Amino acid sequence: MTVRVLTGINTTGTLHLGNYCGAIRPCIRASKRSDVESFFFMADLHALIKCQDPSRIELSRMQIAASWLAAGLDPDKVTFYRQSDITEIPLLNWMFNCVCAKGLMNRAHAYKAMVEANEAKNEDPDNGVSMGLFCYPVLMAADILMFNANLVPVGRDQTQHLEMARDIATRFNNLYGVQENFFVMPFEQIDEHVQILPGLDGRKMSKSYNNVIPLFEGGKKALEQAIGRIVTDSKLPGEPKDPESTSLTQIFDAFATEEESKAFREELKAGLGWGEAKKRLIEQIESEIGPMREKYAYYTTHTEELEEILQAGAAKARKISAPFMERLREAVGLRRFHAISTGKAKSAPEVKKSAQIASFKQYRESDGLFYFKLALPSGDVLLTSVGFASGREAGQTVGMLKTSCSLEGLSEKVVLAENVSASDVEAALCDMKADQERKAAQKAAQKSAS
Ligand code: TRP
Repeated sequence: MTVRVLTGINTTGTLHLGNYCGAIRPCIRASKRSDVESFFFMADLHALIKCQDPSRIELSRMQIAASWLAAGLDPDKVTFYRQSDITEIPLLNWMFNCVCAKGLMNRAHAYKAMVEANEAKNEDPDNGVSMGLFCYPVLMAADILMFNANLVPVGRDQTQHLEMARDIATRFNNLYGVQENFFVMPFEQIDEHVQILPGLDGRKMSKSYNNVIPLFEGGKKALEQAIGRIVTDSKLPGEPKDPESTSLTQIFDAFATEEESKAFREELKAGLGWGEAKKRLIEQIESEIGPMREKYAYYTTHTEELEEILQAGAAKARKISAPFMERLREAVGLRRFHAISTGKAKSAPEVKKSAQIASFKQYRESDGLFYFKLALPSGDVLLTSVGFASGREAGQTVGMLKTSCSLEGLSEKVVLAENVSASDVEAALCDMKADQERKAAQKAAQKSAS
């Protein structure tokens, strides 16, 4: 059994070491396992919610795509795409909008925080709240459920979004999944072992705290400058230092083996100067990130190649999303018009089955008697008749089955195949009838058109 893992990164800026250690690196590592099927994407539709600067959007999605590849993502092994290239996602988003209660969105933490901030400032509660922001979790549910992901690696702050995705999936399944569930329940994957990297000031590394170390942007120089800003105490070289008094050591840990981390701490306790310690940290990070920089530089300057990789990724993703969307359209009633001519609304699975229309075959056995059987195009036999003395009698019985779509009164004339129930046969008969009527209606329509 493989698990489907899916995650996206909003493309409103560039990545920092926190994104690398917390998301990209563990995701790429997991993607190499043979029992994991990975889907990674640039959440560029989500980006439009926060950012209305087209060139920033353009640049950010390119840089983030290049970062994934530079960090070792194998686009042949995973499905790697831009959200906006999957045209089925916004359509699924709409279907979800139509079944998702507004009240559910009212409870979203991010939205509630904005409303509270507005109220605190005595402003209109919905000040600065776009429909995109309000419906953010619905689009995220569409991202996840489009590909029926089992696990979604995210930060703790996204737990509620996953709950909402499950709510929406359940509601859709209950409404439309009469005989089969369309969506599996996705769960957040919050890995306790993955380091939450502290920033320069010791708080969680985050753009909003302005305490980040860039991953690739600005090159080694930017890395050096950022590390130079890591807050430490003012102990001089030679003085024993508390390794836990700064975020420096924890950042070091994220790029070091256990032994290396231990040795580094010992040296600090023995008086290693902060300046020297920062140099060691830079080299430690560079040993992992340095070789990736070349690839990053390559992709950000050969964007046509990057474009090709993402087009191929979109094609691969749409091999799943396009046929799935066909089924969903059927389910909600956005169907080809043929279903209407049967005169009764059909649920999606029935319509699907109608591709497998059964048929009767009449034949004569060596015992001289006349028989018929009902079989699917696959060759599976649903029932066989008893032997009739005349072909006419057999034909009449077939006619009765065809018109009544029922076995009533005929149970002594037929023998059901193993594992086939009377209601299976009756459903098959109904499908046959519907198919006949549809063909007749089509013929009539053609005739009147010509
Ligand atoms: N909301 C996520 C974040 O801010 C980004 C995201 C968008 C996402 N769609 C997703 C993550 C689907 C996982 C799955 O980090």
